[in-house]
Amino acid sequence: MSQGTQSVIVHPATLFGGHLKQMPGDKSISHRVAMLAALATGETTVKNFLPCEDCVNTMRAMEALGARSFYSDAGDLVVHGTAGKMLEPAGPLDLGNSGTSLRLLAGLISGMPIKVEMTGDESLRSRPMSRIKEPLELMGAKIELLGKNNCAPLRIQGGGLKGITYALPMASAQVKSCILLATLYAEGTTVIIEPRPTRDHTERLLQSLGVPMTIDGLRITMHGFGAKGPTLPARAWQIPGDFSSAAFWMVAAAARPGAQVTLDHVGLNPRRTALLNVLQRMGAKVTVTPGKHSDAEPVGSISVHGVKLRGTEIGGDEIPNLIDELPVIAVAGALAEGETVIRDAAELRVKETDRIAAMATNLRLLGVEVEEREDGMIVRGPAALKVGGGVRSYGDHRIAMAMAVLALSAPEPVCINNVGCVQTSYPGFWNDLKTLGGHVE
Ligand code: S3P
Repeated sequence: MSQGTQSVIVHPATLFGGHLKQMPGDKSISHRVAMLAALATGETTVKNFLPCEDCVNTMRAMEALGARSFYSDAGDLVVHGTAGKMLEPAGPLDLGNSGTSLRLLAGLISGMPIKVEMTGDESLRSRPMSRIKEPLELMGAKIELLGKNNCAPLRIQGGGLKGITYALPMASAQVKSCILLATLYAEGTTVIIEPRPTRDHTERLLQSLGVPMTIDGLRITMHGFGAKGPTLPARAWQIPGDFSSAAFWMVAAAARPGAQVTLDHVGLNPRRTALLNVLQRMGAKVTVTPGKHSDAEPVGSISVHGVKLRGTEIGGDEIPNLIDELPVIAVAGALAEGETVIRDAAELRVKETDRIAAMATNLRLLGVEVEEREDGMIVRGPAALKVGGGVRSYGDHRIAMAMAVLALSAPEPVCINNVGCVQTSYPGFWNDLKTLGGHVE
């Protein structure tokens, strides 16, 4: 990991806005496409694959399991699949900071008759893994959690799976996807019941590869292909721009009266775009222009015009739909008039860091009034921002980027410590910040 201790100083932006014509590829979709390409028979080409640390870790793991990959002259990722037969890797798979890589791959590996150890960095080794151990063991895999408090490293002995009926105890696309990928190699039928709708990229990608499933509200039914697994075709993919990365610029513009940003070719999966409704409720002007579907996913352009925002309440079914945007929504709350209330978001405490505690601490350091709740926070704005000794990322990419957005509106430059973690999801973040008028040292 390149998390290191690098710091940046973000200066107040006098002008902010502009047009980003190519947003970096969606991280969730890049992970899944890398995994499915590695399972496929033949050569898959991926345009706009996100070359961030998390996705590179997924691709490296797929290579350790027998796939081959390289970049073409045109800059596309090319993957030679294993035709569904993964090899036992020579050593442990290190997934770095990436919960998506570890949890989804654990499902896939559980289907194969191989023994694999999986680990990650300190943050990943402190995140809950019982949530995947339980359903995978019900399916017949043997999962040992070798870390403290039921955390990674994980040791998996896969093979011999059968379908299950499983009501997810928490709204988690990672756990749902883990079970769906395991079901590819299971005998019989799996039924998953979600407590709330979560991102459905796995379902869309599998269906577009010809894997049938029935989706009835929050209930997904999928038949397994047994130990031989499915025969997945290799094909070309075009990854849409990452809505969660675009979110930083949407909030930066929304909270600045008169500013405007336009972001092209952004993924508009309706299970990812609740931030648009939140910004509209806060008073911002949001225009969405649908584009051509990018394979299994809707895409389009988003324009946001800034105004003096007002506070709003966020909770319930909206939460999984904007879970990764909540740090930057807290920033919007700090710049808005009145209270912004975030509830039902206890999952934030088990992300790359405890994002409720990290945001509350950082916002207070800059003079924002915040009340921390077990499942969220109340942010009272508009804050009279004051700049003290700087803020920390806690090694969490989204905390670093959310604080950079707030710094654009501070009266003086803000130092953000330990920002190497931005590489985890958005390697071009600082360049794009500069393109839109920010000044960073
Ligand atoms: C992801 C799902 C979400 C999200 C994460 C990526 C995915 O996690 O926070 O950044 O790609 O499936 P959970 O499903 O654990 O909430």
